[in-house]
Amino acid sequence: MERYVIKGGNPLVGEVEIGGAKNAALGILAASIMTDETVTIENLPDVNDINVLLEAISGIGAKVERIDRHTARINGSTITNFSLDYEFMKKIRASYYFLGAMLGKYKRAEVPLPGGCNIGSRPIDQHIKGFKALGAEVNIEYGLISTQANRLTGTHLYFDVVSVGATINVMMAAALAEGTTIMENAAKEPHIVDVANFLNSMGANIKGAGTDVIRIKGVPRLHKTTYTVIPDQIEAGTFMFAAAATRGDVTVKNVIPKHLEATSSKLIEMGCQVEESDDAVRVYCKGNLQHTHLKTLPYPGFPTDMQPQISVALALANGTSIVTESIFENRFKYVDELSRMGANIKVEGNTAIITGVPRFSGAIVSSPDLRAGAALVIAGLAADGHTIVEDIVYIQRGYERFEEKLRGLGAEIDRVEDDKEITKFKFQHPVA
Ligand code: UD1
Repeated sequence: MERYVIKGGNPLVGEVEIGGAKNAALGILAASIMTDETVTIENLPDVNDINVLLEAISGIGAKVERIDRHTARINGSTITNFSLDYEFMKKIRASYYFLGAMLGKYKRAEVPLPGGCNIGSRPIDQHIKGFKALGAEVNIEYGLISTQANRLTGTHLYFDVVSVGATINVMMAAALAEGTTIMENAAKEPHIVDVANFLNSMGANIKGAGTDVIRIKGVPRLHKTTYTVIPDQIEAGTFMFAAAATRGDVTVKNVIPKHLEATSSKLIEMGCQVEESDDAVRVYCKGNLQHTHLKTLPYPGFPTDMQPQISVALALANGTSIVTESIFENRFKYVDELSRMGANIKVEGNTAIITGVPRFSGAIVSSPDLRAGAALVIAGLAADGHTIVEDIVYIQRGYERFEEKLRGLGAEIDRVEDDKEITKFKFQHPVA
């Protein structure tokens, strides 16, 4: 079992290059099978979730060619299998994007029903509502969700909850429906815009992505394209909070500063300096961090995917902060781990009451999920002594060369494979 061994205490200083957005790439890769022509996708992050999705695309019969670490070429003309293997859904929930993509192109699809996951129960009723509104039949039987239609017709749809996944899934199906679809109360995340831009570059006619009303004029078919994925705002934000927690000075490069506004404004409230340029943001924090309050919300609100990372920084700030998680019910699992490092956090329902402490001390902690895992690494970087972060397989789902990028900023972090390797570290204190 791989884990990180971190010797904390060094402020992170320097520049770090941010990769392509994982969540945008997942939607784009699924949508890439919607044409029979060849699609080239650039700036893919080289992370486990993306690699699994590429395998899933080969698994249904498409041709997938990895040109280099960050570029893939996909041709969906050879797809013969409209049913996705359970193994893929188990590894990556976003495999459900094949429902919208295949329903649009082939008017039929079948994927295993995704269950809940570590961060909470994750219903897909809004996806189903959208497919049905387009005229598809949807059945759930034997653990599978299958959908088919003789024809898909444009519709006027109102989502009951703001959902990134449902917005993308229904948008893909509607792109190849007959007539116009209007989706109201759509999610506005940057990756919705990126998937819409990608589909438009293949000949779709989608307007309004990035607002809560998206208008999709169906087209009969899509064509080839070459497309570059947007930068990952969550990866960028993670490094920005790592800078704050370690009182460092970090410039995240290759970002879209507008996508980072919720993060930047919280950092300013916490007493950090934030300087934006065209495609970079510098964060530097001297002196004590200050407390603040926040609630996670759909974009442009504060992202739930950044909640654990800011909470780690707040746990080292002066005063008491209140963090409310309004998107997923199980996103405070890292709190018990952080408490082992000396944090003072009380969770009541969907609220964490965080009373800042002057310092953390190293301990063995385990990643409960992707973002919480990254947050525990930040805690280790800020802590006195050594921290061992276990279950880093979660972190590898979404962060490319995480330890390497952190080392580039002066962090002392190693990835070790087994217990034997750990013995080479000289711990100045017992790590338990
Ligand atoms: C996406 C992101 C995930 C991020 C989340 C919220 C991807 C691959 N994943 O997940 O990293 O944390 O957005 O920003 O892009 N809901 C329903 N019914 C539905 C769908 C969702 O009730 O049919 C609820 C969910 O339980 C949740 C909320 O809506 O409370 C938001 O979920 P959603 O935006 O769909 O998240 P995902 O697309 O799964």
